[in-house]
Amino acid sequence: MKVLILPDAAAAVATAADHVEAALARLPAAVLGLATGGTMEPLHAALAARHREGRLSFARARSFNLDEYVGLGADDPRSYHATMRDQLFSLVDFAPGATRLPDGAAPDPHAEALAYEAAIAAAGGIDFQLLGLGRNGHIGFNEPTSSLGSRTRVKTLAASTREANARFFGQGKAPPTHAITMGLGTILAAREVLLLATGEAKAEAVRAMVEGPLAAVVPASVLQLHPRATVVLDAAAASRLALGDYYHLVHPGGGPAAV
Ligand code: F6R
Repeated sequence: MKVLILPDAAAAVATAADHVEAALARLPAAVLGLATGGTMEPLHAALAARHREGRLSFARARSFNLDEYVGLGADDPRSYHATMRDQLFSLVDFAPGATRLPDGAAPDPHAEALAYEAAIAAAGGIDFQLLGLGRNGHIGFNEPTSSLGSRTRVKTLAASTREANARFFGQGKAPPTHAITMGLGTILAAREVLLLATGEAKAEAVRAMVEGPLAAVVPASVLQLHPRATVVLDAAAASRLALGDYYHLVHPGGGPAAV
């Protein structure tokens, strides 16, 4: 795991955007794995800004998002379909039909999960996967005790995850109880992964992911097995890491090459 520690969240987001830009420069027709959540919002904004500036084109790329809530259709404003449309897809130049998320309104969510995994395989697999990190160590919606070899499937959301995401649902409205999510095996099969985590609330999950043992109770620790995983952190998210000598402290505009 390559761990990059930036002084603040803005610098961490810029470094993550640099990696996406580099991936698309290497492979303009890349199959991207995308994520949602509060951490991704500023990254999506940075990618949209770089597109506006003419630095970044998604015209030949395709994308698969990690997950979607079961029961929310693409038109539901609380769905990840809507989030992605608002934050990124409507602001950049993906070709029509080039972006995909699991269909949360599918009549048979289990069949949809299998079809989604098959669609990723049919696209040739994921070249570059973006990830956020749950406070409980989840990636995608692979909650603690998820099988390390799991593929796209329906998962029950942990109470703590529903609580953390309640802010996106408005007062008195709870998030759905289930999601369709890429599995840990699906994520491991991506050729390159980049996990972005910012803020003190993620510090313990970051420590367990990077320095703890490989364990299904910390799903993100499966990235220890990935040959090309980069973890981009701000100082707050990195604050509980003990093995400081092993990590790259990156000073924007200088320091060790971030890409
Ligand atoms: C969302 C996803 C989740 C989030 C994680 C962190 O597509 O896959 O794993 O990345 O829950 O969410 P935030 O960034 O809101 O703390």
